[in-house]
Amino acid sequence: MRILAIESSCDETAAAVVEDGRNVLSSVVASQVEEHRLYGGVVPEIASRRHAEAITPVVTQALEQAKLTLEEIDALAVTYAPGLIGALLVGVNFAKGLSLSTGLPLIPTHHLRSHIASNYISNLELKPPFLCLVVSGGHSHIVMVEDYTKMKIIGRTRDDAAGEAFDKAARTMGMPYPGGIELDKVAEDGNPLAFKLPRPVVNDAPYDFSFSGLKTAVINLLHNSAQKGIELNKADVCASFRYAVVDCLVTNFLKAAEDLGVKRLVIAGGVSANRLLRKTLEEECKNRGYEFYMPDKSLCGDNAAMVGSQAYYEYLSGNTAGTDLNAYATMSIE
Ligand code: KG4
Ligand code: ZN
Repeated sequence: MRILAIESSCDETAAAVVEDGRNVLSSVVASQVEEHRLYGGVVPEIASRRHAEAITPVVTQALEQAKLTLEEIDALAVTYAPGLIGALLVGVNFAKGLSLSTGLPLIPTHHLRSHIASNYISNLELKPPFLCLVVSGGHSHIVMVEDYTKMKIIGRTRDDAAGEAFDKAARTMGMPYPGGIELDKVAEDGNPLAFKLPRPVVNDAPYDFSFSGLKTAVINLLHNSAQKGIELNKADVCASFRYAVVDCLVTNFLKAAEDLGVKRLVIAGGVSANRLLRKTLEEECKNRGYEFYMPDKSLCGDNAAMVGSQAYYEYLSGNTAGTDLNAYATMSIE
C-alpha cells in the first residue's frame, strides 16, 4: 500500500511517499528555519503563509521523486495534531481537497505518533511493544507503545520540553534558532562536570520531567558571570547543561523501563538526534541487556516519511477521516 503523506505542523513543509509503512519511496522537506531565525523562534503567521506557498511544489516533488502519479497512490495521510493551528490547517485543507478530487482515503495522523514511527523506517525489525522517550521542541514524554496505535503516557514534562530548554539556553548564549543543534555540537568540546547544575525532580511522579528550573539555573549562571565581567568557557557551559538534561531524561526513562519490566527501548523526536542522549542510552541499554532503537539522524526532525509510516498502521486500525476532518493545536498521543 502506497501512502502520500503531508506534514505542516511547525516550520517544515514536507511530503513523502511510503510503501507498507516501512519503505520510503520519496521524502521532501522544505524548511522555513532561516526566516524564523530572524525572530529567534517560529512566528506562527509566517509559518502558515510559507506552508501555503510551499505545499503544492513539495507534494508535486514527492510524487516526482517516487516516479509515481496520483493514480498509483492508495491513500493520503496528513498531520492533524498537535502543532501550530494555522500551520496544521494548511496541510489538512490541502489533503482534504486532494482526497475529495481523487477519491483517495484520508488518514489523520498524530505528530508525536509519527515521530515514534520514524523508528519503523530506520529499524525494519522493530515492532511494538516498547517504551519510547519522545523528545521534541514541544513535548517530552515517556510513552508505552503497546501496539502501533495503542499508547499510554507513563511520564511527561510539567513545564518546558527538552528541546525548548535546549533552545532557550542556546539563545542566551547567542546561538541562532533552533540552538539545540549547535549547543549539542559545541558541548562536544566541553567538560560536562565544569558547572554543577540541578537535576529537578517532580515529587511523587518519578517519571515526570521539569526543565524550567534547570533552564533558569543556566541562564542565571550566564547572566551573573556577565554582570561580574567573568567570561565562562562556552563549551563547558554547553557540556554541563547538556549533561544535566540528558541525565534527567535517561534516569527517568530507565527507571520507568525497570519498573514496568520493559526491555525494548526506543527514542524519537528532534532531541533524539542529540549525540550524548544517543550514546548514553546505547551504553546503558547494552549494560542492562536491553534492546535499543533510535531513528536515523535524518529522520529525527520533522518530515513526512514518518507520517506515511504511522499512517499505514492507523489505516490498518481503521482510522480514516472524511472531509469534515479538522486540525487541533493540542491532542494527547493516547
Ligand atoms: O521534533 P522536532 O523537529 O520538532 C517538534 O516537533 O518540536 O524537534 C525540534 C527540537 C528543537 O528544539 C531542536 O533544538 C531540537 O529538537 N534538537 C536538538 C538536537 N537536534 C534538534 N536538541 C538537542 N540536540 C540536538 N542534536
Ligand atoms: Zn516534531
